[in-house]
Amino acid sequence: MEKKLWGGRFSEGTDQFVEEFTESVSFDKELALYDIKGSIAHARMLGKQGIIPQEDAEKIIKGLEEIKKEIEEGRFEWKKELEDVHMNIEKALIQKIGDVGGKLHTGRSRNDQVITAFRLYLKEETQNIIELLKELKKALLKKAKETVDIVMPAYTHLQRAQPIRLAHYFLAYLEIYNRDEERFRDTLKRIDQMPLGSGALAGVDFPIDREMTAKELGFSEVMRNSMDATASRDVIIEFLSDAAICISNLSRQSEDLIIWNSTEFSFVELPDKLTTGSSIMPQKKNPDVLELIRGKTGRVYGDLVALLTIVKGLPMAYNRDLQEDKEPVFDAVRTLKGSIIGMTKIIEGMKPKKENMEKAAGGFALATDLANYLVRKGMPFRKAHHVVGQIVAYLTKENRELESITLDELKRFSDLFEEDALNILNPYSVADARKSYGGTAKERVLEQIRYWEERLS
Ligand code: ARG
Repeated sequence: MEKKLWGGRFSEGTDQFVEEFTESVSFDKELALYDIKGSIAHARMLGKQGIIPQEDAEKIIKGLEEIKKEIEEGRFEWKKELEDVHMNIEKALIQKIGDVGGKLHTGRSRNDQVITAFRLYLKEETQNIIELLKELKKALLKKAKETVDIVMPAYTHLQRAQPIRLAHYFLAYLEIYNRDEERFRDTLKRIDQMPLGSGALAGVDFPIDREMTAKELGFSEVMRNSMDATASRDVIIEFLSDAAICISNLSRQSEDLIIWNSTEFSFVELPDKLTTGSSIMPQKKNPDVLELIRGKTGRVYGDLVALLTIVKGLPMAYNRDLQEDKEPVFDAVRTLKGSIIGMTKIIEGMKPKKENMEKAAGGFALATDLANYLVRKGMPFRKAHHVVGQIVAYLTKENRELESITLDELKRFSDLFEEDALNILNPYSVADARKSYGGTAKERVLEQIRYWEERLS
């Protein structure tokens, strides 16, 4: 049994249940390298400030570097009875270099230590997520460039609405994921603030140099208030909110592609290597990656709600409840990164079925444009809408598509129709008529592509 580093005032050992119930090392060892990084900066600062002798600081740093290597090589033995990652490393240090290792925790508390390591971790993972979102955006841009000349119906209420160029759809998601990236970038500014040097909650009674540790750890700012620094988790909630919003977008796009991949739609072909088969039905090729992105969205929402709930009733300052902030974040990071990678691979590998999309883009998806034809001839839009509605009802009853209508038939509904009305009934020209800024006309789509090419290259 390991002796507790805080065991001085206790006359009996910790109940085994309590040890099991309160330990966090089984999951917070994920922070090990960040914890060591924080400790090395702290030790160097203690030495430089003369708070501990320089040579002690050097011994501590050397010991920590050895421990780091042991962890990286999987040789380090984690012990639950030592509670958390911080205590495991500190105890190993003392065992390695002797009593002088006990000087590391001078002018520091686990309360500022843990959130420093956590912020270092989050900084790195946020940057990783930003990089992955960039790759996804590039994949969307590439797909957009390949699909400018494919029209498809866009949907509202999952009913065919109006024809668009397929590229326009990909560019819509590029905008969406770009905002996700911006949100992470913005949060990164607030993650990038250093709590170290706040002690347990009230600050530190040694002449520490927080600017020095911040510089060494690569933090842009030092947190101004020690209670805030040790007790607040709103920035972590903000990160989880960004993650939840981002995966909601991934989930929504997954749903599109799952539908497009169905036999009924048959708008896309997903590559074999990104789909899975059924153990019973030989014909199946299932879009499991997309389904799991959609499904895992529930986890990330849960992670966000967990942390919101954990903090809601906490008195100032640190409370042990805050140890529960880690697993949701680790889970959200893993889940979101996997989901972005999955979506990127799907976008890169999917093949649109041009003919099917084109075919579906015609028919009643052109009805708005027929109404707008009448508007151009002077009919008020509301009236034109009604007239074309009657045409749709008439053709539907006859089980016919819009393109099959003749000029004579059109004239029965309005004498404003002339020969050129029939030219409208083509999804490409209909899409290209939407030249308003942000619209789906080819020239507008090419403009968007140029915009992103300049930014993503
Ligand atoms: N494992 C703890 C956590 O994650 C570290 C801080 C413990 N502080 C304390 N006063 N018991 O929050």
